[in-house]
Amino acid sequence: MPPIISVKDLSKTYKSGFQALKVINLDIDKGEIFALLGPNGAGKTTMISIICGIVTPSSGSVTVDGHDIITDYRAARSMIGLVPQELAADMFETVWGTVTFSRGLFGKWPNPAYIEKLLKDLALWDKKDSKLMTLSGGMKRRVLIAKALSHEPTVLFLDEPTAGVDVELRKDMWQLVRDLRDSGVTVILTTHYIQEAEDMADRIGVINDGELILVEDKNELMHKLGKSS
Ligand SMILES: Nc1ncnc2c1ncn2[C@@H]1O[C@H](COP(=O)(O)OP(=O)(O)OP(=O)(O)O)[C@@H](O)[C@H]1O
Ligand SMILES: [Mg+2]
Repeated sequence: MPPIISVKDLSKTYKSGFQALKVINLDIDKGEIFALLGPNGAGKTTMISIICGIVTPSSGSVTVDGHDIITDYRAARSMIGLVPQELAADMFETVWGTVTFSRGLFGKWPNPAYIEKLLKDLALWDKKDSKLMTLSGGMKRRVLIAKALSHEPTVLFLDEPTAGVDVELRKDMWQLVRDLRDSGVTVILTTHYIQEAEDMADRIGVINDGELILVEDKNELMHKLGKSS
């Protein structure tokens, strides 16, 4: 099966002259959970932002299910859901309104039954008429997940999904991610914590200083690190 995401010789130098990504090559398989593990400033958000079309690459290419992210932007973007690292949404909008609006942005027909299921799955149903500013931090994060899933993407990016999320909710979120994977969605998440990568991912990519220094099957990586898993 061809990879769902293919990154070739990708690099990024910001206008400031800072090189955030060196030469990245990576294939992501359909239906896997891939963890991008690395410290602050490693280049995780930069890489995700390029794949999602928010940041332009300096060189190299990326395809999503065969669609080039630049020459075939709309097709590529419509397959992707992104849960950004920073909480950014219209705080005066209601949960129902913002999630429905997100779906519309992708030109998808309204599907209230799908949105209802999504909000129920994310334990947000009883908050559907609440304004975002009245929600807790964890609830806002779940709203971002609902927005990202609103147009039924086949690839979901989660940029530090568990920052500011309590242990219980974290477990629920991981269950949601596994359910998504089981329904055929490919999931790429970033984390600072090896434990989180180990718990969640099928494969782990370690990124440091803009370089992907290791990409390994989770079990093999844990074996190499001398852990049993
Ligand atoms: N717009 C920008 N202009 C200049 N430099 C930038 C810009 N955005 C990011 N950088 C730099 O690129 C590097 C990588 O940043 P990035 O946000 O990709 O890291 P990250 O791995 O997501 O880190 P974190 O774990 O803290 O979220 C950092 O040194 C950052 O300062
Ligand atoms: Mg980041």
